[in-house]
Amino acid sequence: MKDYKLALVGATGLVGRTALKVLEEFKLPISNYVLFASSKSAGTKIHFNGKDYIVKELTENSFKDEHFDFAIFSAGATTSKHFAPIAASTGCIVIDNSSAFRMDKDVPLVVPEVNPEEILKNKGIIANPNCSTIQAVVVLKPLDDAYKIKRIVYSTYQAVSGAGKKALNDYENGIKKHFNPLYSYNLEKFDYEIFDNCIPQIDVFEDNLYTKEEMKMINETRKILKKPNLSITATAVRVPVRNCHGESINIEFENSFYLRDVLDILSASIGIKVINTPQYPMPINVSGYNNVYVGRIRRDNSINNGLNLWVVADNIRKGAATNAVQILKDLICLQ
Ligand SMILES: NC(=O)c1ccc[n+]([C@@H]2O[C@H](COP(=O)([O-])OP(=O)(O)OC[C@H]3O[C@@H](n4cnc5c(N)ncnc54)[C@H](OP(=O)(O)O)[C@@H]3O)[C@@H](O)[C@H]2O)c1
Repeated sequence: MKDYKLALVGATGLVGRTALKVLEEFKLPISNYVLFASSKSAGTKIHFNGKDYIVKELTENSFKDEHFDFAIFSAGATTSKHFAPIAASTGCIVIDNSSAFRMDKDVPLVVPEVNPEEILKNKGIIANPNCSTIQAVVVLKPLDDAYKIKRIVYSTYQAVSGAGKKALNDYENGIKKHFNPLYSYNLEKFDYEIFDNCIPQIDVFEDNLYTKEEMKMINETRKILKKPNLSITATAVRVPVRNCHGESINIEFENSFYLRDVLDILSASIGIKVINTPQYPMPINVSGYNNVYVGRIRRDNSINNGLNLWVVADNIRKGAATNAVQILKDLICLQ
C-alpha cells in the first residue's frame, strides 16, 4: 500500500492536538507528518506516534516547498481561506475544520456516516461541518430516511472547548476566581464570564437576529441532508461544561412512527450509541469517545409525528478531529 504525507495545520490547538491522538488511534498508512501553527508556536515540540515533532510556522511556501498528499486544517477560517486554496493548487487534498468553505457549492460538506458519497466530488477541499451540526445529522439522517423530517427545533448546550483554547483559559480562570475572590484575570475569548453562567450567544448576531452559530446549524443541516428548504430553527447556548456539546432536538416527521422502531433504527446505525431512559448520555461520560450518544427518546405529544431527543458528543473528537480523520481514512481507501 502507498505511504502518504500529511500536513496538520493548527497542530497546537485543541482540535489539532486531538487530531494527533485520533491519527495515532486510526493507524492510517501515513508515515510522514509535518505539523504547522502560527509563528507564535513555531518551534514547539509535540510528541506524536513515538517521535518528537517540531512545529513549523505556516508560510506562503509551506505547500510549495514540499508536496503533501493530504492536509487537515484546524486554524480558523482566515487561515483556511488564505492557505487551503494554495495547498489544493499543489494537488494536496485539504480537509478543513473551519467555516471558510462549508457553504461553497463546489466544496463537499461531509459527515462519513451520513453522506460519504460527497467525498468523491471534491475539487481539492472537503469541509468538516460545524461541531454542533455533525452530532445532530448523524442522528437525523437514519430517521429522515425512515420517516422524512418536516421540521427541526435545535436547542444546544455547548461546551467551552468548542470555542478553542483561549475559551478554556476563561473557564479555568473563572474557577480560580471562584475559589479565590482576590484572583483577577482578563477574559481572553468571551465577552462575559463563562464559569457559573450560560451565554445565549455563540458567534456574532446576524441581521435576522439569529447568531452565526445558529445559522451554521440551519444551513449546514440543509446542505448535508440535501433538503434546502427544510424548516429548522435553532438556539445555541454556551454552558459552563469543559467538553462535549449537548443538544435537545425536536423533530416533526411527515410520516408516523412507532417509538420502538425509532429505538431500533438508532441502535442499528453506525456511529450512534443509544443510552435511553432511565439512563441518559452526559458530557462527563462521553468526553474522549468518538460516537454520538442519544437518549431521552420520547414522543412530542403536542404535535402529530413529533419526537424529542437528547444528543451528546465530544465536540473536539466527533465534532472536529475524528470526523476529519474519518474523511481522511475514506480518501485513502478511495485512492
Ligand atoms: N473546538 C471545537 O470544538 C471545534 C469544533 C469544530 C471545528 N472547530 C474549528 O477548528 C478550528 C480550530 O479550533 P480550535 O478549537 O482547535 O482552536 P484553538 O485551540 O484556538 O487553536 C487554533 C490553532 O490554529 C493555529 N493558528 C492560528 N492562526 C494561525 C496562522 N495564521 N497560521 C497557522 N496556524 C494558526 C494556532 O496556532 P498557535 O498555537 O500558533 O496560535 C492553533 O494551533 C477553528 O476553525 C474552529 O472553528 C473547532
